[in-house]
Parts: sequence; C-alpha cells; structure tokens
Amino acid sequence: MKTIAIGTLSWILSAGLLYAGASEGKELFTAKCQGCHGANGEGKAAIAKMYNVALPPLASKEVQAKSDADLKKVILSGKGKMKPAAGVTEKQADDIVAFLRTLK
Ligand code: HEC
Repeated sequence: MKTIAIGTLSWILSAGLLYAGASEGKELFTAKCQGCHGANGEGKAAIAKMYNVALPPLASKEVQAKSDADLKKVILSGKGKMKPAAGVTEKQADDIVAFLRTLK
C-alpha cells in the first residue's frame, strides 16, 4: 500500500515535468553538476574564480541556444575548462539535458 502511494506520487511529480527523463536528470545533476553549477545552474562564484572563467548560467539564452547534441557533448566530453562528467552514460547525459531544458 505504502509503495503504491509513493509510486503514484513520484509518477505525478515526474509527469509534471516537461520532458521524459528530466526527473532522473535532476538527480544526476544534483550529484554530478551542482557542485560547480549550483542547484539551478546559476554557477558558483568560487568555482568561476578558481577556474578563472565566467560560468554561464545554464538557464541563460546562450546555453539554452545550444542544441541537445551540443549540451550532451559538453557533459560527455567536457568543454574548455570543464572536464567530462565522470561515470555518466549516454542515457544519463540525455536525462541531464532534459533537466537542463526545464531550467529556462
Ligand atoms: C568541477 C566543476 C564542474 C562540474 C562538476 C561541471 N561543470 Fe560544467 N562547467 C564548468 C566550467 C568551469 C565551465 C566553463 C568552461 C569554460 O568556459 O572553459 C562549465 C561550462 C558548462 C557549460 C557551458 C558550456 C558552453 O558551451 O558554454 C555547460 C552546458 C555545463 N558546464 C554543463 C554541465 C553539466 C550538465 C554538468 C554535470 C554533468 C557539469 N557541467 C559539471 C565546471 C563544471
């Protein structure tokens, strides 16, 4: 009974998100990206300073203008001073991209 209630609840929550996979993506984002990019992708000042780069807010037009394929590539291959995210599969990268799209 309890499991059904929890299952239904998480179904309702994930159905509320725009894209399939976005809820998995949020968890992955929290684990793999939040440390540098912040909970909402706003970017942490200390990290920007440490890497001596302007961390673009992930909800910004410039980041959102990138294609899904480009964002996936940043996650899997890194870009500039960002290293590839460790231990992220292709499918998980898709989920993270789906989550990034909910930020705008
Ligand atoms: C160790 C810190 C760190 C982690 C962890 C990290 N990033 Fe980054 N990220 C950076 C830095 C630094 C840059 C800026 C790179 C540059 O401009 O050279 C960046 C840039 C980006 C950009 C913008 C790329 C562009 O083309 O302008 C995206 C999108 C991004 N990160 C997504 C992610 C996602 C999604 C994750 C998790 C899978 C993640 N990052 C994890 C440090 C990090």
